[in-house]
Amino acid sequence: MKKPVIAIDGYSSTGKSSISKVIAEKLGLIHLDTGALYRGITWYALQNCMDGNGSIDLEQLFSSLQHIELEFKNQDGELILHLDHKDISKEIRSNEVSDNVSLVAKQKEVRDFLLQYQRTLAEKGGIIMDGRDIGTVVLPNADFKFFLTASIDERTKRRYHELLSLGIEAAEQQVKENLIERDKIDSEREIAPLKQADDAIVIDNTFLTKKETIESILSYLKSFN
Ligand code: C5P
Repeated sequence: MKKPVIAIDGYSSTGKSSISKVIAEKLGLIHLDTGALYRGITWYALQNCMDGNGSIDLEQLFSSLQHIELEFKNQDGELILHLDHKDISKEIRSNEVSDNVSLVAKQKEVRDFLLQYQRTLAEKGGIIMDGRDIGTVVLPNADFKFFLTASIDERTKRRYHELLSLGIEAAEQQVKENLIERDKIDSEREIAPLKQADDAIVIDNTFLTKKETIESILSYLKSFN
């Protein structure tokens, strides 16, 4: 039986990745968290491409891109991001990466580099990909497109608790400011901005639990054959 290609986009901390992961398990799909790729490049840049002022030297990053070996390795059914064969799944969630990722992700060179990578992974179908531009740019012909949104206070609460559960220290106000800032840069950038595809199903999950959001998405997927 043919398996669907599903695009899930939306604002930061609307639960895109954790929801996609559950749906992938239920339907036997591959799940790709594309935010992890942008975070991986940002982590690499923070380690290797700093200028004298402590900012990322973008020119140096662009010239290194082809040598960055990012790959997802299957670990107990989960795709874990590796950079040069090192598991960086925890490092990419750091506050430092969150503070810099949108500036890196808005660069054309970075987006071009990752676009082909993402499309190649989707070629065989049977995939759920979450991000900001999946339904609009990466997989415009996806079988299903969803766009998730929720209030900023609810999203702040979720991200704050996610960070605590990862053992990463955070202040709620700082988390909120980071979400607002990232959404602004992501929505206003020239290339592949965060926006709802015209044919996406919008789900505001401010008052929905994770389980209810998953059920809502699954109810739409029933129509696939
Ligand atoms: O999904 P997550 O919050 O981990 O994404 C981190 C950042 O990566 C986003 O704020 C955005 O700048 C960038 N991103 C993107 N396009 C995607 C996925 C993520 O620009 N498809």
